[in-house]
Amino acid sequence: MNKKIAVIGAGNVGATCALYLAEANFADIVLVDIVEGTPQGKGLDLTQAGPVRGYNAMVYGTNKFADIKGADIVIMTAGLPRKPGMTREDLLTKNADIVGSVAKQIKKYAPKSFVIVVSNPLDLMTFHMQKVTGFPTNRVVGQAGILDSIRFRAFIAMELGVAMTDIQAVVLGGHGDTMVPLIKYTTVSGIPISELIDKDKIKAMADRTRMGGGEIVKLLKTGSAYYAPAAASVDMCKAIFNDEKKVLCASAYLTGQYGIKNIYIGVPVILGANGIEKILELKLGKKDQADLQKSAKTYKEHLKIFGY
Ligand code: NAI
Ligand code: 2OP
Repeated sequence: MNKKIAVIGAGNVGATCALYLAEANFADIVLVDIVEGTPQGKGLDLTQAGPVRGYNAMVYGTNKFADIKGADIVIMTAGLPRKPGMTREDLLTKNADIVGSVAKQIKKYAPKSFVIVVSNPLDLMTFHMQKVTGFPTNRVVGQAGILDSIRFRAFIAMELGVAMTDIQAVVLGGHGDTMVPLIKYTTVSGIPISELIDKDKIKAMADRTRMGGGEIVKLLKTGSAYYAPAAASVDMCKAIFNDEKKVLCASAYLTGQYGIKNIYIGVPVILGANGIEKILELKLGKKDQADLQKSAKTYKEHLKIFGY
């Protein structure tokens, strides 16, 4: 295949991204990790699954960043995952070092690529990636909103016993406990959920969504979620790759939209061949607007920790 996607980090999220990408069968995949043997072993294993899974994509594992040369899209998953009791923000300084060093390699070897950041704390790491690469902000985007909204959709489907794919949800704000699920824009085949579920239950599901990552950390004990995060990241990758003009929530650089500027935070965007092609500004109710401002304020404070 003549198109190439690089996945940085061959851990749980990275390897699962490589699997979903291979199954999507539209590009070869380069899987990079610092641990010797891990990306090579997983790459070979994934490639060998191709004949029965029906794909021809090659997954090439490596420890050399030079191998990402020419990648069209880079998915950045390297970094430490959360352990029980840790917030995403606890990961800040450790993962900032990793993201900073990888960003320099991306700038050097794949200067024209689009970068989808997954490493946590997501909105801060996306900001850091953009600053260190110096790429235009439309080419650096963070994955969180799809994950947060698919979690909300799954909870609603479980409650109503309906098809998950019929549910639409919009979750704004930072990828953390301050995220803002927008009830007004949450529908089941166009029917507002407020028509189908009572207020207290909706609130409980929105709260569960906010804590959705932590719920899985508590259950797994040794790491965090990876199937849904990888599925969300690959969905974004496809939207860029196939110029789908898909409307989804992602961490984007704001320049005054929603009254917020100079940070990355989750908002609805149009994602296509030019990366973030447009940020959509919804009319928010007073409480949602206040919650979004609160989320932005938290992230601005955190950016100061590492000198921004
Ligand atoms: P993991 O521990 O399974 O994998 C991380 C991998 O990164 C390891 O294989 C490690 O060797 C590698 N790595 C570390 N430094 C590196 C470097 N400089 N270059 C290349 N590889 C390097 O962790 P997992 O579960 O895959 O999570 C990865 C990151 O994604 C974490 O920061 C986690 O918090 C975040 N995450 C974000 C989500 C989101 O929605 N934005 C959802 C799930 C996880
Ligand atoms: C999640 O939400 C850990 O951010 C990760 O699952």
